[in-house]
Amino acid sequence: MLAGSGICYIGGVKNLVLVGFMGSGKTDAGKLASARLGMKFVDMDGIIEQRHGQTISQIFETKGEAYFRQQERALVRELAAGDGRVIATGGGVVLDANNLRDFGRTGVVICCWVDAGVAHERTKHAKHRPLLEEADVDRRARLESLLRDRELLYKAIPLRIDTSAMTVEQQAGEIVRIYKQQTEL
Ligand code: S3P
Repeated sequence: MLAGSGICYIGGVKNLVLVGFMGSGKTDAGKLASARLGMKFVDMDGIIEQRHGQTISQIFETKGEAYFRQQERALVRELAAGDGRVIATGGGVVLDANNLRDFGRTGVVICCWVDAGVAHERTKHAKHRPLLEEADVDRRARLESLLRDRELLYKAIPLRIDTSAMTVEQQAGEIVRIYKQQTEL
């Protein structure tokens, strides 16, 4: 039971799982939403980095993307077995349908959609996204092609908000509203 909120289900407080492309505000809006809901915030990439003592870019470089995806998959299983957390996932979590299935069992999964142009603006100075940092790659073109490849996966998630024109505040407000609507039925 979440103190004062009335939000509960048999087995505990449902996780709130934020899925979406790079630059969709999962982490910033997720932190704000977690504070408002009184739930613990966790960032999947942050946990993987901490456990490996390496950044995501270093993991991609030294162990490869397939290894990263295995770690991501194992962490989804671990987090989905728990409850009461706001979970910011990495943008590629949708690539394995098992991830969404597992999260959906114990949580409310919300997709944060973002248009390619806005995603580019929000991520263009960031140095920690290995998929956008490959040598000789035009970041904008790479981002557009990745988003095109994943668009149907993101858009298949029924609870979805378009964050493209939203502030972090507005996005957090929407996330909290949807979560409450889904858990206080
Ligand atoms: C990835 C997104 C990143 C991170 C990794 C791969 C992706 O997370 O997990 O670089 O495949 O889209 P963010 O969405 O938090 O940037």
